[in-house]
Amino acid sequence: MAAAWKRLHALAARPGGRDITPLFAADPARAARHTLTLDDLTLDLSKTAIDDAVLAALLDLADAAGLGTFRARLFAGEAVNTSERRAAMHMALRAPDQAGLRAALPGGVDDASALVAAERAKMRDFVAAVHAGRLRGATGQRFDTVLNIGIGGSDLGPRMAVEALTSAAPGPMAARFLSNVDGHATLAALDGLDPARTLVLVASKSFTTQETAVNAAAVRAWLAGALGEAAVGQHFAALSTNLDAVATFGIRREFVFGFRDWVGGRYSLWSPVGLSIALAAGWDAFQAMLDGAWAMDCHFRDTEFAQNLPVRLALAGLWHINILGTANHAVLAYDQRLAHLPAFLQQLEMESNGKSVHLDGSPVAGATCPVIFGEPGTNAQHSFMQLLHQGPATIPVDFILAARPDHDRAEAHRILAANAFAQAEALLHGRSEADLRREMAASGMAEAEIARLAPHRVCPGERPSATILFERLTPYALGRLIALYEHKVAVQGCLWGIDSFDQWGVELGKMLAKGLLPDLSLPRPGGTHDGSTTALIARFRSLRGEE
Ligand code: F6P
Repeated sequence: MAAAWKRLHALAARPGGRDITPLFAADPARAARHTLTLDDLTLDLSKTAIDDAVLAALLDLADAAGLGTFRARLFAGEAVNTSERRAAMHMALRAPDQAGLRAALPGGVDDASALVAAERAKMRDFVAAVHAGRLRGATGQRFDTVLNIGIGGSDLGPRMAVEALTSAAPGPMAARFLSNVDGHATLAALDGLDPARTLVLVASKSFTTQETAVNAAAVRAWLAGALGEAAVGQHFAALSTNLDAVATFGIRREFVFGFRDWVGGRYSLWSPVGLSIALAAGWDAFQAMLDGAWAMDCHFRDTEFAQNLPVRLALAGLWHINILGTANHAVLAYDQRLAHLPAFLQQLEMESNGKSVHLDGSPVAGATCPVIFGEPGTNAQHSFMQLLHQGPATIPVDFILAARPDHDRAEAHRILAANAFAQAEALLHGRSEADLRREMAASGMAEAEIARLAPHRVCPGERPSATILFERLTPYALGRLIALYEHKVAVQGCLWGIDSFDQWGVELGKMLAKGLLPDLSLPRPGGTHDGSTTALIARFRSLRGEE
């Protein structure tokens, strides 16, 4: 592995080794040769400084890191999540019933496909009964709104998918999402909701997450206050791996949808955690999303690395992060329906690969996950794109775009697409001082003014991007897109030698918040904290008149 890293650094150190535009000049077929496809899905990686030599070195690195073995172990359901001794078998959630996938857990191996098939059938029946009005609320009215209470992986995936799939045409039910333990969020989520027609889903893999427990209790009180305590059983369902805790909350067994610990929270939208998607967008849409993800699973599992979309996307990321030293990564979907995609990817990428020790506990020498951020294009162009064009740091971008919209405003869509392509082009070519000087001179500007303005207007260019283009944002295309990123993250984790499937840092935050709570509520704070925290607690209490 060390040899492959060394070679990559040497390639980047060649004169012009970071430049992209000369590669196009040298090879007219570059775009075609660095574009990969899977049906209509197109991944153009040509706007990077990856040439044939760099690609060969990256592929050698993947071989040296044992990516082939890792991929085989992942799909065999082995415990690739080593710190928790679990498989990461989210692929079983979208595989056909008969796929025969298995998944390791401490103390045994699950027949993952059989478990998924049973739970998926139960979900499908439940969704059909709700949509047909066979399952109704306590007053006999049909459910018209689903309220999903959950946070992190129990919120971001379903929220993003529901928005993506129901913005163009409303689905069978409306959906709301409540994640934050902030009374303002709770009030907003309940505002204008009719409890008699609201189906509440408590989504929590662990069923111990404080925010979700607090919000579930608040919504339960709201519903019981309006319809009576006896109504709760008809309005609440739970999506969890912790069936004992669900029973304690008092949710009817037939309204409980389970999954197992080999599904990570941030990979759980395909599990019962996706029930809000099926209710809001329809079962067929949910199933098509699963099918699209499974198509990507099969592609990732069966395709040689050089032609493998998640592998190539991951390798491009590695080149930028570890060789060129980029620390941030922007995701710009030129699709308003994907407004929540960056938030989803922030958890997927940063919770998965925000690690600094190898599987054996030894420290990682270089960088791992970059900071992921994004906004829909074109909005992003009028806020932070300035930094990407002229800031001192290089920030690679993923541009994401559907060729056909699901509206009839054809010209608006062409303008949207023109902006996406133009931004990628502007990052690539920039604006040279010579061109600017020529233009300003041609407009009659005085030489002194040209000299004063030119440095401000130069855009250096040679800034990399990937473009992900597909025909339409169908449920199938969405599933495929998300799975592309999931596998990209797994490949990068393998190459960095880290555990992409645990999240001990976040667990620490959960624990500390619970420990600090008494100091905000008991008559006298008794906890031991650093000086800053002690002072802030005192100030908080005094501003509330409690000190
Ligand atoms: O924030 C940490 C985390 O464990 C995430 O990984 C998870 O998605 C989220 O909390 C919610 O957890 P749960 O689904 O168990 O309520």
